[in-house]
Amino acid sequence: PTLDEILNLHDFEFIAKQVMPEKAWAYYSSAADDEITLRENHAAYHRIWFRPRVLRDVTRVDLSSTILGHKTSMPIYITATALGKLGHPDGELNLTRAAANYNVIQMIPTLASCSFDEIVDNAKPDQVQFLQLYVNKDREITKRIVQHAEKRGIKGLFITVDAPQLGRREKDMRMKFEADDPSEVAKAGGKGVDRSQGAARAISSFIDPGLNWSDLSWFKSITKMPLILKGVQCWEDALEAYDQGLAGVVLSNHGGRQLDFARSGIEVLVECVTKLKEKRGLTFPNDKFALLVDGGVRRATDVIKAVALGATAVGIGRPFLYAFSAYGVEGVNKALEILRDEFEMNMRLIGAPTIKDIVPEMVDASNLSSH
Ligand code: FNR
Repeated sequence: PTLDEILNLHDFEFIAKQVMPEKAWAYYSSAADDEITLRENHAAYHRIWFRPRVLRDVTRVDLSSTILGHKTSMPIYITATALGKLGHPDGELNLTRAAANYNVIQMIPTLASCSFDEIVDNAKPDQVQFLQLYVNKDREITKRIVQHAEKRGIKGLFITVDAPQLGRREKDMRMKFEADDPSEVAKAGGKGVDRSQGAARAISSFIDPGLNWSDLSWFKSITKMPLILKGVQCWEDALEAYDQGLAGVVLSNHGGRQLDFARSGIEVLVECVTKLKEKRGLTFPNDKFALLVDGGVRRATDVIKAVALGATAVGIGRPFLYAFSAYGVEGVNKALEILRDEFEMNMRLIGAPTIKDIVPEMVDASNLSSH
């Protein structure tokens, strides 16, 4: 099918599955164990309903917003997903270029297929990029990565905290990741890694399972970039992050790829907003501490629901991978255009001319278990 026939983000998945190399499909689409969390991530949004307001002038709607003080054309960002070249020869650069076209922020993964510098070099002069960090057992390597990123103008450091060990993604494990694979995985994983259990296992053996709260002061001592924890899954840890002076947390279960039966980020959002208000008097969104959410966001209505409940913005992963695997950068452009169009229409339909007008009263979230 041509891009004109793509009507929504789900379509990219359907098409990518048919045209992608089997190994890439297995790595991108897989999730942990029985993939219950993967399914739940999107399904949780189905439990939230709108309470739109009428008779508000919505001739013009403004989708623009900020994340950590940086402008974005809408409250979404492209989250970090490893190994872009499995799906397309240009890998992550497809995301960099589309992000520039649509003025959204890209989070660069530690395990990108393209080199970090190549991705930064391909950004426009004022284009904002974040970095996702897997923390190496060898802290000197981590320090070098972090300080280099800061020097290259990266605006936020997202430390992944939900992956002390990579989850079992059985679809991926069945695709033995051969040592003779010409891709860049070998480079990412280094020599002597076990490639018999899929791409994820092959590339992740350097990650430090000893990482803990007391390491955060070290990060503060080596960089001035705002620090955000990616993969927080309950209010207690969000509160701890706030108390330690971090800039925010991403409420995420890694796209269902880590702990199966982890709750959806949108479920966790509700308890975080409630408890941080109760215990620290915080209201959301605010400029001090950002609650970001990712996992299962496929429609602009999902984004609007998260924003209504207090999220600063949401991250989207797989849909962009599927988009570039099937259509290269034009696919990602199209995915962002679809989101923008859906967003504009649905803001009109709920009666919100600006992002600030999307308020908690516009959703009925009483069917969420954490409500
Ligand atoms: C990821 N994700 C991820 N997260 C991270 O912190 N470091 C990483 O290297 C990766 N790699 C990665 C690869 C692939 C193929 C996927 C699908 C995901 C998790 C990602 O940042 C995000 O949390 C989820 O992808 C969000 O869910 P959706 O939008 O994919 O449903």
